[in-house]
Amino acid sequence: MTSGCCVFVLLSLLHISLSVEMTGLYGSFTSPNFPQPYPDNQHIVWNITVPDGHRVKLYFRHFSMEPSNHCEYDYVQVLAEGNETLRFCGEEEKNYESSPGNTVILSARNLMSVIFRSDYSNEGRFTGFQAFYTSEDINECLTKLDGENICDHFCHNYIGGFYCTCKRGFLLHDNNRSCTVPCQNQVLTSLSGVLTSPGYPNPYPPMSECDHTIRLPEGYRIVLDFLEPFDIEGHPAAPCPYDMLKISTAGQEYGPYCGSMTPGRIDTGSYQVHLAFRSDTSGKNKGWKIKYTSTRTGTSSL
Ligand SMILES: *[C@@H]1O[C@H](CO)[C@@H](O)[C@H](O)[C@H]1NC(C)=O
Ligand SMILES: *[C@@H]1O[C@H](CO)[C@@H](O)[C@H](O)[C@H]1NC(C)=O
Ligand SMILES: *[C@@H]1O[C@H](CO)[C@@H](O)[C@H](O)[C@H]1NC(C)=O
Repeated sequence: MTSGCCVFVLLSLLHISLSVEMTGLYGSFTSPNFPQPYPDNQHIVWNITVPDGHRVKLYFRHFSMEPSNHCEYDYVQVLAEGNETLRFCGEEEKNYESSPGNTVILSARNLMSVIFRSDYSNEGRFTGFQAFYTSEDINECLTKLDGENICDHFCHNYIGGFYCTCKRGFLLHDNNRSCTVPCQNQVLTSLSGVLTSPGYPNPYPPMSECDHTIRLPEGYRIVLDFLEPFDIEGHPAAPCPYDMLKISTAGQEYGPYCGSMTPGRIDTGSYQVHLAFRSDTSGKNKGWKIKYTSTRTGTSSL
């Protein structure tokens, strides 16, 4: 018997709409008057909240509700956040296809709502239900995010949460998931050289923020030659929405570049060139490689 029994008995002739908050790590609740028949015209919501990083596990020990097609009259409905909504009615012994039986219902996250509804009449004496719930740690490391592992390199689960770590030589990005290679503020001053995306021609890391500047003395003119393979995650219709390489001089901008068509040769006409490479959280593309050379122009240029 629950402590709410007597309130329900007194109000059994009225329309009742109630909401009950449940926040313990485990608990149980029943239909009003349980194990006596439940009253008509009830609408009760139990909102179960367990700590972050946990899920709710719900099952029924006893179940007896008026049966109906699609459970349209009396029912128990379970809303498990991030999971399908389930509706039950009938009796364990007779209507096992619409009653919960031994089903254990899991929420994908830490909230679950259970709704009990009875309409204005009952054809028989139905004793309602008794439900139990417990909370369970979610092993986030087993879950996928848009089809990818939740951590780029290594995932560590603990009770109530998880964290990611990276292989040696990589840094954990501020998003706490991606493993990046430091490539900011790279300055090249030799008259010729080679530049690549991190790890080229292996897939470049997510969340890359690479900035390279080729800085030669005034009077030089830098020429960039893209080598094969050239492979930056692109989009057939939108201009480089995911990953991109942009090149700029004091007077001109080139790109953004992405896709698999190499930009070929760029004669920048300048003695100073900046390259900015950005990648998003996903994708497996080989990247880019540039061989640069320079010529003396004699006169000073940009
Ligand atoms: C109970 O949960 C439902 C849906 O999850 C929500 O709409 C409702 O506001 C909650 N009720 C209370 C009292 O928190
Ligand atoms: C709900 O989600 C969990 C985990 O995402 C899954 O294991 C379970 O099968 C889902 N469905 C039900 C009805 O619990
Ligand atoms: C990353 O983790 C730190 C420390 O655990 C936390 O303060 C920060 O909010 C997290 N950032 C994101 C984007 O989750």
